[in-house]
Amino acid sequence: MTPRPVLVTGGAGFIGSHLAQALVSRGHQVRVLDVLDPQVHSSNGSAPKTPAGVEMLRGDILDEDLLRRALIGVEVVFHQAASVGVGQSMYEPAAYTRVNSLGTARLMEQIAARGSKVEKVILASSMSLYGEGKYVCAACGPAAPPPRRRDGLIPGRWEPECPGCGADLAPAPTDEGKPAAPTSVYAVTKRCQEETVLVMGRAYGIPAVALRYFNVYGPGQSLSNPYTGVAAIFASRILNGAPPLLFEDGRQSRDFVHVSDIVRANLLAMEKPQADYQVFNVGTGRRVPLLDLASGLLGKLAPETELSPEIVGSFREGDIRHCYADIAKIRQALGFAPEVSLEKGFDDLAAWARTQRAEDRTGPANAELLSRGLLH
Ligand code: UD1
Repeated sequence: MTPRPVLVTGGAGFIGSHLAQALVSRGHQVRVLDVLDPQVHSSNGSAPKTPAGVEMLRGDILDEDLLRRALIGVEVVFHQAASVGVGQSMYEPAAYTRVNSLGTARLMEQIAARGSKVEKVILASSMSLYGEGKYVCAACGPAAPPPRRRDGLIPGRWEPECPGCGADLAPAPTDEGKPAAPTSVYAVTKRCQEETVLVMGRAYGIPAVALRYFNVYGPGQSLSNPYTGVAAIFASRILNGAPPLLFEDGRQSRDFVHVSDIVRANLLAMEKPQADYQVFNVGTGRRVPLLDLASGLLGKLAPETELSPEIVGSFREGDIRHCYADIAKIRQALGFAPEVSLEKGFDDLAAWARTQRAEDRTGPANAELLSRGLLH
């Protein structure tokens, strides 16, 4: 396809840097705008990564002058820049709202401005906006439970209950039709970002696409950021000779999708007009209990170890129990199919993680949550 001038916001981050690399290798002219947040880009485990051939602009997504410069000549914007800690968003709500919600509004303001050449915006959205995923009750059928209540969680009733009969619900694949029901400020900002790009896109005739990433993992994930996703946190703990800590009973589950599959979904969203003005789940459709993630990574990173996953029984405010993707929509509309199996993905993450220096900072991060009443 014809090479295009593109902007990747957050292009030095975990997903953004893989995306920038893939775009460069396909001949596109890539500019990156990234603030190089020290929480993500610490000296250990995650050096700032700017792929060769990329033009790098460092700065804040709210800086209008910088945004104007970043958008000069650009035809496609991949908006990946965001603050990403679910737990942290609960005690820094204003900072998260500033970077994620206001940052997106400012970006769209510039994209919609006269003289802008932007023809498409692709947003890194998140499954977190669903809140709890879809469920089914053996007696009552499909169910959409409200957020779990603290008075049930404290005695360890982890599974959401059927609003009709009170029985434990079984998780079901979550499709894009599930109404948003955020349970964290982070998720609120992701919903806001999505609505902002879609509403502005429609009004100005600029095709917008929101990709709802499920739990992304892979090489390049910040191993020293205690607010990053659970796969990197577990890898970092294991490399430091500590057991992975499992909240609840470890049977909560997610859909872990390899970063290379996320990149492919972004490229399809750019290339295919069928993506325009749509939202899509990007996951694998495979439900993985956290306990299996912990054992799998232990097996790969420390096969001889006597360590085993430690179930702590506490829970984080804002965490959901289960969510995994129904990927029928993106499969049908864009021809997307995930290519990386969990086995291969774990190998890939482990091979990379072994070459890194990972600092395990989960202790202070969990202590912070505890002191604020956000870990019970
Ligand atoms: C994650 C991402 C979010 C992204 C979303 C969808 C983070 C912090 N969150 O949300 O940005 O939009 O996926 O891609 O990257 N857990 C443990 N032990 C730990 C840490 C976590 O048991 O040490 C458990 C949590 O309680 C939770 C599960 O692991 O049940 C997943 O947590 P997390 O990785 O924070 O991800 P999400 O909240 O699913």
